[in-house]
Amino acid sequence: MKKFNITVAGGGSTFTPGIILMLLDYLDEFPIDTIKLYDNDGERQKTIADACEILLKERAPEVSLLASTNPEEAFTNVDFVMAHIRVGKYAMREQDEKIPLKHGVVGQETCGPGGIAYGMRSIPGVLELVDYMEKYSPEAWMLNYSNPAAIVAEATRKLRPNSKILNICDMPIGIEELIAKNLGLSSRKEMEVDYYGLNHFGWWTDIRDKQGNSLMSKVTEHVSQHGYATDGTSELEQQESWNSTLKKARDVQVLDPATVPNTYLKYYLYPDYEVAHSNKEYTRANEVMAGREKFIFEECQAIIENGTAEETKLTIDEHASYIVDLAKAIAFNTKERMLMIVENNGAIINFDPTAMVEVPCIVGSKGPEKLVVGEIPRFQKSLMEQQVGVEKLVVEAFEEGSYQKLWQAITLSKTVPSAKVAKDILDDLIEANKAFWPELK
Ligand code: NAD
Ligand code: G6P
Ligand code: MN
Repeated sequence: MKKFNITVAGGGSTFTPGIILMLLDYLDEFPIDTIKLYDNDGERQKTIADACEILLKERAPEVSLLASTNPEEAFTNVDFVMAHIRVGKYAMREQDEKIPLKHGVVGQETCGPGGIAYGMRSIPGVLELVDYMEKYSPEAWMLNYSNPAAIVAEATRKLRPNSKILNICDMPIGIEELIAKNLGLSSRKEMEVDYYGLNHFGWWTDIRDKQGNSLMSKVTEHVSQHGYATDGTSELEQQESWNSTLKKARDVQVLDPATVPNTYLKYYLYPDYEVAHSNKEYTRANEVMAGREKFIFEECQAIIENGTAEETKLTIDEHASYIVDLAKAIAFNTKERMLMIVENNGAIINFDPTAMVEVPCIVGSKGPEKLVVGEIPRFQKSLMEQQVGVEKLVVEAFEEGSYQKLWQAITLSKTVPSAKVAKDILDDLIEANKAFWPELK
């Protein structure tokens, strides 16, 4: 069987060890020759790389690892690029969350003004990765998790229309695992789902077992009472901010009782509640820096100091399984049904054909083939049109270096109360993002 070469871009990411462990778990079905790590912060990447090297030597010595900050070295002769960069790192996520909150607006990594600011940083970062891949491995596919995925996807659709980049999100599969647990199933893989929307902005319309029986009435009943809460033991529920997000889905679900919503819709439908329940001094970025980031880097440091990964607490997760399943679907033409962020182009009949939507696709060696969703109701359609407008304006603002369009984008976001507040936030964001954004005129 062919052995694959994989580049993990954003090698210094907190998710890199989980993806490597997942790749090792799949080696029988998806053999690997070399894993390369690429990052533009060599020092951060080194800790992860040195630990992963020890881990690989112990668990899969036939797989080689190379870490580099040199694009030619990192992108030459690879089959897949698994990308998860965070341009500006956690320090800038903190700004994305705290600046809007200072003005009484939702402060969130991917939604509202924070997501827009992050989008303006991510676009050039991801375009650069796409260009490296096309230059050094023109046949390769990029499987991209880098956020904000909605804006990144619109940017690559428009600015790199022929590139082989597939944008994905792990929120639906995370929620599906909780739904499966509440249904008494062993995993989300026992279900088939109908879903439509934008990234971090969508709805499940049906969930079936593998025999085709709808489970939806059980699902809507549970979510209408408890949101996505389970018995409290899931990893997400162990984190207080995720726990309240999962429960809040109940208040989102009542707006359309026949469907169940993506958790991120709460930021658009209950922005006042979200702001009132946010700590302006200590946001999710602070929690993650003190939690996941600290844990991953301490674990990697311990592996390096001990010279072994035998005792490590590093684990694989669903986030990693999804991207590996996607690579397998392309490599072996498995025709797996997966949610992907793709150009609408008729999938949702009564919606902008050029919008990047999140819908079920059949994935094979030619990439995703989207399934037809049909017509969607006025409530969802209207919300989505407003949000697509925001995402498209951000990409136009980036392309044209336009202050006006970025102001329009922030004003149009459902999370923002007025053009005045939008302008105040924008001016603060420009100041904070000087090192990353193009100059706006
Ligand atoms: P992280 O900060 O730990 O890692 C990101 C890495 O990217 C850092 O090591 C950083 O140095 C590197 N980087 C930044 N800019 C770069 C550039 N231009 N070129 C190369 N490397 C660059 O972040 P994390 O928490 O591990 O998250 C990584 C990314 O994955 C984020 O964008 C996050 O939002 C995203 N993510 C997406 C999903 C999804 O559902 N799509 C799920 C989880 C995480
Ligand atoms: C979900 C979303 C991602 C997002 C992440 C944030 O997984 O799908 O797009 O990046 O949550 O989680 P965090 O733990 O970093 O707040
Ligand atoms: Mn996501």
